[in-house]
Amino acid sequence: MPLMSDVLAAFLSQHKPPFESYLASTLTNYCSDIGQNPQAEPLLNALSYSSLAAGKRIRAMLVYMAAQACQTNNDNSPESSNSMTNAAAAAIELIHCYSLIHDDLPAMDDDDLRRGKPSCHIKFGEANAILAGDALQTLAFELLANEGDSPADLRIALIRELSRASGVNGMVGGQAIDLAVVNQQISYDELVNMHALKTGALIDAATYMGCLCAGGNAQQSQALRDYARAIGLAFQVQDDILDIEGSSEQTGKPQGTDIAANKPTYPAIMGLAQAKSKAQSLCDEALAALADFNANADPLRSLASYIIQRSV
Ligand code: IPE
Ligand code: IPE
Ligand code: MG
Ligand code: MG
Ligand code: MG
Repeated sequence: MPLMSDVLAAFLSQHKPPFESYLASTLTNYCSDIGQNPQAEPLLNALSYSSLAAGKRIRAMLVYMAAQACQTNNDNSPESSNSMTNAAAAAIELIHCYSLIHDDLPAMDDDDLRRGKPSCHIKFGEANAILAGDALQTLAFELLANEGDSPADLRIALIRELSRASGVNGMVGGQAIDLAVVNQQISYDELVNMHALKTGALIDAATYMGCLCAGGNAQQSQALRDYARAIGLAFQVQDDILDIEGSSEQTGKPQGTDIAANKPTYPAIMGLAQAKSKAQSLCDEALAALADFNANADPLRSLASYIIQRSV
């Protein structure tokens, strides 16, 4: 099976470049005031270094894919994406970039390579890395609040979803558990819960936010929640597998650090072969959740397969 289907490759070539331009120009616009102050230069450099680096942009693409899946017409061009969808995609990516900067800090995973380059704190120092993470996080919410052409209730719903998924009941809570269970034996259910929080919550928020932006109905949003729960877990299972089997050249991250830090991961708890078959069954569950969607959901379908086959 090819690593990336034609459907996924076509979707990414249509949506990723305009998204990255939007992200870059948004950052420039929002930093223009403080940018007059030369003392803020290291922080601004850290912000653009980490958020504009070569990421896969999966969470942002999920926003567009979910919005497309909920659309009834066939106008899937990037032009048909409204400005609220662009802001939602950028907001979730900003939160993700902040989470990566903090995840690499010495007090957390202490990793020195990210997206093929020195981690933010290696390049700019710990204080600037902490502040860059803080700034990216708040910028995400500012961006959503400022989309003044969209109804206030939509903006509040998006902010509610993203804040819930990022915070103590989502990514941050999962990260705290991840750090607390180092050197410990945890049960399978505890592992699933940790993965669902630290990685699944933002992936779930991405699809739900896309659905909200496109005005999807309750049935669509529930199906997308089921899809996201499965691919969110599969995403972290594959990340854990790549920490063992992947190459640093491809992932752009140090390899073998989970084992070195004695982290409970899927392969550590179940073995590599079981982890791989779990990833496959999660992919099957994700595809089943999309059964009622038409071909507009094909990019979501292709992404589910890509997530468990990826080497990047
Ligand atoms: C890495 O996420 C962190 C996890 C949640 C496993 P990605 O693999 O999506 O990282 P980028 O954005 O492509 O660098
Ligand atoms: C997920 O876990 C990290 C975040 C929620 C940011 P990892 O610590 O495994 O992510 P990587 O492998 O460093 O990208
Ligand atoms: Mg971590
Ligand atoms: Mg890490
Ligand atoms: Mg990892």
